[in-house]
Amino acid sequence: MIAALRVFAVKTTSYLQALLKFFQAAVLLMTQRYRSATLRFKIAFFVVILMTSTSFALSIVTVQIMNNYILNEIIKRGESVGKSIAASAGYNLLSKDLLGLDNLVFKAKSSNSDMLYVAIVDQDMKTVVHSATEMIGETKPVVQGQLFRESADGTTVKELTNPSGSIFEILCPIVFMKKSLGSVVIGMNKSILLEAQRKVGSMILIVFGIIVVLGMFASSLLASFLIKPIKELSAGVEELKYGTAKNPLRIYSQDELGKLTRNFNEMSAVIADQRGKLTKYARDLEDAYVSMVKVVAAAIDARDSYTHGHSARVAELSLLIGEKIGLPEADLRDLEVGCLFHDVGKIKTPDAILLKKGKLTEAEYTEMKQHVEYGASILSWAPSLSKYIPSTRHHHEWHNGKGYPDGLAGDNIPLFAAIISIADAFDAMTSNRPYRKALFKEEALSRIARMSGTQFRPELVEIFLELMEKNHVQDAPLSVVRFAR
Ligand SMILES: [Fe+2]
Repeated sequence: MIAALRVFAVKTTSYLQALLKFFQAAVLLMTQRYRSATLRFKIAFFVVILMTSTSFALSIVTVQIMNNYILNEIIKRGESVGKSIAASAGYNLLSKDLLGLDNLVFKAKSSNSDMLYVAIVDQDMKTVVHSATEMIGETKPVVQGQLFRESADGTTVKELTNPSGSIFEILCPIVFMKKSLGSVVIGMNKSILLEAQRKVGSMILIVFGIIVVLGMFASSLLASFLIKPIKELSAGVEELKYGTAKNPLRIYSQDELGKLTRNFNEMSAVIADQRGKLTKYARDLEDAYVSMVKVVAAAIDARDSYTHGHSARVAELSLLIGEKIGLPEADLRDLEVGCLFHDVGKIKTPDAILLKKGKLTEAEYTEMKQHVEYGASILSWAPSLSKYIPSTRHHHEWHNGKGYPDGLAGDNIPLFAAIISIADAFDAMTSNRPYRKALFKEEALSRIARMSGTQFRPELVEIFLELMEKNHVQDAPLSVVRFAR
């Protein structure tokens, strides 16, 4: 029994080691693919692994228990037959009734197909009767084998290994009138045990396969069932992120996931409400900002009756150029506001200079030129207006570098400033001034063409002249501001 338990322990340990290696490989696989695997795959995989390993472990334990049970039953039957023969054989041995002994051996052998041999030996281990008659008279050799079991009455069971396979040899002492007369020797074949192992193994393999297939199917269903609300929740978060959420998510259950979904719906409603308010505030703020820009532009132009509407007309012309060169909508909007701000620095220019009817002196002209720096300084007070500083500061730069205030040349002049420069000059030339009348359109365009490459960027001049020729924009009212309304 102890030996059987030892074998059982050794086998179980080896199976457990194999199971552990399998788990280690599974964990390694999961770790490597963890990031890319879906949640559904992970759940299904773990359930399948759990079911497979549990079934595997149960199969091993079942086979081992069954083996031990069958083995025990075989040996018990052998012992029972042996003791039965020993009980009857005592008298026959004393009376030397060989026929009776032979009859006992024959009956036992013929009614137990798994008995390889049955023999009766005397005290000297000489064979008295044997199921194989050629063995009669032979001295039974002392066999070496592993002692499997030993009973109190002297019955021993040994496991012997011979070329034809493993057998159990049961030796039952024959005692008559308290005198030992010999032994009954029975050889039990393990073939029944092996056959039973094979049948049980096949059956367990089939059941194991069915469990694995069912487990995969069930785990896939379970994963789908568990994942569905999580997937919808994930999609809801995505919609919330991009502000496209319309309807609250469906609540599938009243468990933790259901509570999470309900809380998410409440949170979404709050966020949507806040987002609506923020959008309204942003729109109001933008409207206020645009109104402020319009007021400032109007205030600048209003100081001089001759330049009334100048900023708005410069904006209109600049936008035509901006659209022609393919500026995106956001840039066109910035260009328009930049135009409205381009002369904001004239607020600081004294009336005596700004409104002077005669020609400016050198000093007055120098002061007048300061308006671009005043403008840049004013816009620097508000961070949100700083992006209009380049076009305000540099709209009097010349393409050849001879403009002011920094003497920038060519492409170093910001694009918006280069555009405003042309529109500003054209509007100034086609407007009445205290010291001269407005030029005709053709004359103004001719002057701009002449200054291409010196004062103005040539490619922009080309576009501007083409626009003026095609669209006759100068004949249309230019006071309408496109974006800032
Ligand atoms: Fe200016």
